[in-house]
Amino acid sequence: MDAALITRHLTQPCHLVVLDSVDSTNDEVRRRLAAADAGAGAKPPLAVASTRQSAGRGRLGRRWESPEGGLYLSLALAGSGSTLPLVMALGVQQALAAAVPGLGIKWPNDLLCAQGKLCGILVEGPVNDSLIVGIGINIQRPMAGSIPGAAYLSDFNQSAGTEQTCAAVLNATLGYWRRWLQARCSFAPLAEEYRSRMLLCGEPANVRTATGSLVATGHITGIDDEGRLLLEHGGHQQAVAVGEVTLRDHQTGSGFKPAPTTRNNALP
Ligand code: BTN
Repeated sequence: MDAALITRHLTQPCHLVVLDSVDSTNDEVRRRLAAADAGAGAKPPLAVASTRQSAGRGRLGRRWESPEGGLYLSLALAGSGSTLPLVMALGVQQALAAAVPGLGIKWPNDLLCAQGKLCGILVEGPVNDSLIVGIGINIQRPMAGSIPGAAYLSDFNQSAGTEQTCAAVLNATLGYWRRWLQARCSFAPLAEEYRSRMLLCGEPANVRTATGSLVATGHITGIDDEGRLLLEHGGHQQAVAVGEVTLRDHQTGSGFKPAPTTRNNALP
């Protein structure tokens, strides 16, 4: 990836580092934050981008397969609270919506379209008062060995190169982050926008912990202003702050059918 080309398209200030290959861009950001704390590195907002990771990781301890041809991007951002993952999903959705018809957000922060999962987001930290946001986007569908249930940007007729995609994602996510920070890390001003891009409303779903314990079951009705998922069951409404959503059957109103797979970049 050409760092100068990305920088040329950036409209938001950030310190950008581009690497050919890295273990995990989240780990690289963590190392650079430690160096910054020791007075040697750039202060946030800091972004590290690569097209290959040797040890990419996803949510809930899963691996994130990161072959050449994807976009792996991490940011160090000031702020605190549990809603930054949702804010970042809004940014990525905005950046890619024009290229990917029907792209929406599966709570809390997966980006899905009819073809499958296009992007996953992993927020870690805090580290030295920053949260580390990792964004993985499937860009180029491989000739062989594509991940079942995964969508790729190359499936769509779009002309943007990886550098332009990277810049668009940075511009949009940094823009939403600034709005969230200005609202003192409150999600309330962004909640309506999130609802309008949310998938699976009206669907029967289960929410489970990382270890598989059932947290809630019911029909998804939306989110509240704190970003919690709302489910309705037997006339009662439940709000869930953390968990993994799976559909109780594979029929959805959006015409999107999750594949029966547990591979990381794909649908759960
Ligand atoms: C998920 O499980 O859906 C989240 C996947 C997040 C993957 C990204 S790729 C860039 C960053 N570096 C990592 O090791 N993980 C995140």
